[in-house]
Amino acid sequence: MLRILKGNDYGDMSRIAANVIFAQITMKPDSVLGLATGSTPIGAYEQLIKYYEKGNLDFSHVTSVNLDEYRGLDEASDQSYRYFMNKHLFEHVNINMEETNVPDGKEPDAAKECLRYDNLIENLGGIDLQLLGLGNNGHIGFNEPGQVFEKGTHCVDLAESTIEANSRFFNSIDEVPTQAYTMGIGNIMSAGKILIVVSGEGKADIVKKAFFGPITPQVPASILQLHKDVILVGDEAALSKI
Ligand code: GLP
Repeated sequence: MLRILKGNDYGDMSRIAANVIFAQITMKPDSVLGLATGSTPIGAYEQLIKYYEKGNLDFSHVTSVNLDEYRGLDEASDQSYRYFMNKHLFEHVNINMEETNVPDGKEPDAAKECLRYDNLIENLGGIDLQLLGLGNNGHIGFNEPGQVFEKGTHCVDLAESTIEANSRFFNSIDEVPTQAYTMGIGNIMSAGKILIVVSGEGKADIVKKAFFGPITPQVPASILQLHKDVILVGDEAALSKI
């Protein structure tokens, strides 16, 4: 089932998204949260930090598993997703750092790292709430458009359009890694609940395609139409075409 929650603007939609996560942790303090990077969830993370600072939110029993990481980058690199998570959330709340998980971009053996990550998620008993952003080409995590829905954690070759879109975070496009480790569609779809955040008119077309178009691996997010509990949170611009 899909529920759509609309915020007036980015700040409003970020608060709505943060409240869903807040509610999840309140209901189940030892939740396993699947977390995401990208610019869209930053506002929600800021709001969660505010709730924590006011004493209303306790991350001490939370475990997190992030969706993806660039292959080749380690956590010292300020472009890595581990660095992003530390900076935008983990360093500001009382989550136990040892209970935060991001694929290890520095592990050269892709098969080994992907198996480790799948086992980790399984041993945690699965993900209670998975937060997602939406790539311009319909990717979730780094599950790029392709011929099949990949099930488990895998190593992907990033799409040209993704490398281009993400080059804004790097000094030059040549510095953007060309591969990443990402949870698969199976990992994501096994989560109890999914919260997907979208912002800005640039996402309006892909939101429509993903949630109201055909279910196809060419639009990886379209598989979310089959999930039993999805909350789509967006601002007016991103939801303007649905
Ligand atoms: C990256 C991430 C995705 C994210 C997407 C959209 O490629 N791997 O998880 O959803 O970008 O990012 P943004 O929210 O900045 O549009």
